Amino acid sequence: MEGMITIAYIVASILFILALGGLSNQESARRGNLFGMIGMTIAIVATIFDQRVSAGGTVIIFIMMAIGGGIGAYLAKRVEMTEMPELVAILHSFVGLGAVLVGYATYLDPSAHLEGAEATIHDIEVYIGVLIGMITFTGSIIAFGKLKGSITGNAMLIPGRHAINATMGIICIWLGIFFVGADTSDGVTLLIIMTVFAAIFGVHMVMAIGGADMPVVVSMLNSYSGWAAAATGFMLSNDLLIVVGALVGSSGAILSYIMCKAMNRSFISVIAGGFGTTTAAPVAEGEVVKAVYSPETSAEEVAEMLIDAKEVVIVPGYGMAVAQAQHTINEITKKLREKDINVRFAIHPVAGRLPGHMNVLLAEAKVPYDIVLEMDEINDDLPEVDVVLVIGANDIVNPSAQTDPHSPIAGMPVLEVWKSSKVIIMKRGRGVGYAGVDNPLFSLDNTRMLYGDAKASVDTILSNV
Ligand code: TAP
Repeated sequence: MEGMITIAYIVASILFILALGGLSNQESARRGNLFGMIGMTIAIVATIFDQRVSAGGTVIIFIMMAIGGGIGAYLAKRVEMTEMPELVAILHSFVGLGAVLVGYATYLDPSAHLEGAEATIHDIEVYIGVLIGMITFTGSIIAFGKLKGSITGNAMLIPGRHAINATMGIICIWLGIFFVGADTSDGVTLLIIMTVFAAIFGVHMVMAIGGADMPVVVSMLNSYSGWAAAATGFMLSNDLLIVVGALVGSSGAILSYIMCKAMNRSFISVIAGGFGTTTAAPVAEGEVVKAVYSPETSAEEVAEMLIDAKEVVIVPGYGMAVAQAQHTINEITKKLREKDINVRFAIHPVAGRLPGHMNVLLAEAKVPYDIVLEMDEINDDLPEVDVVLVIGANDIVNPSAQTDPHSPIAGMPVLEVWKSSKVIIMKRGRGVGYAGVDNPLFSLDNTRMLYGDAKASVDTILSNV
């Protein structure tokens, strides 16, 4: 049986690696998900048949799986695409909490009689697992609150925050030195004190991060949850959990790095919690911009401009996701392409509210993959474009990222839509984007504003093209 379980774990590990490979592009993403699901099924079955799981334990596992699976299936069915980041954040918190609970349970396990180096290594595993787990747990809960809007999206920058973080870090290391080798009663006290500090650190770290950095934080917490799972794998001597944890941990870290580059935020500053965050006050939530806006246009006029164009680029943003306008946009695209108009989509790496958000929506609407281009692939072509349709996007097309060094999004690479002949902005009113900053694009000469819910606007455009 032991040999079978080892083989099952190896097969599951390979399937998880194939799943990650598959998820790296749209055509193979479905296959990647399938590999992941098969791998996870094999992993769960193999774990249940582990000799260390008693008959009573198996019954408990099945009951808990039925409860957890039921709640998970119910929530997954109800969740909107725009709420995915919140869901991901709260799921990370479970992994963190799991690592904390496993850490305490294995530390207090009366049947464990480890001696010498083994005991030292086990103590270190428990300590690190609980530390990372607790930071992930509270950090993810704050990220969930911020994404849901129940906690303010503004960075909470308390004076001396770096000193506070550094002091908490030093205290945790210092407590850890006493913890390793301590007897169980002293050890538990030290573990509890460290857990409290880790909890505060997690809260403080994410509170100090402003709205525009949130995607990086979610992917960073994804990475932390992976390392917490790997630590749990060490504590439970489960090789598969170590491998999977390391895969999640490293892929989350790589994704965070890629997103930092896309938003021009330093990775270290995000991890350390707000280092380098600008203190320039963004426009408050709910406040509208007072600048003089470009003239308004109508959906009928936009339809005419599109029919007269040779080159059209569509820039989808968060508002397209809210309005669920992607299917109608696909219909418009089909009609224009039938008229030999070259239509392409320009996707900013952090458009919407989660990595790949726009790609998923466009794939769902069956927009052909070959006309969906990344920012770097299309930015140079924008000066040759006749009409750019900006659908519910704001921050990702904001020229002040390049021109205003004091802007909270200064230095963030953006889609340079203002270089094209005409830019149509579809939005409901004068609301700001996620980063809460003014957008000078809405006042330029070649810009026209098309107000209203994006779905209603594109429906009228469709009936006129
Ligand atoms: P935003 O800057 O958030 O702008 C969205 C715009 O859509 C708003 O200005 C809003 O204006 C408009 N809008 C909302 N609902 C609409 C509707 N039903 N119909 C028409 N327009 C609507 O979006 P973006 O340009 O996609 O930029 C993404 C932002 O989110 C970035 O700052 C990014 O850093 C951040 N972020 C990204 C992620 C990831 S990983 N993608 C995760 C979290 C945060 P009105 O209110 O005037 O309609």
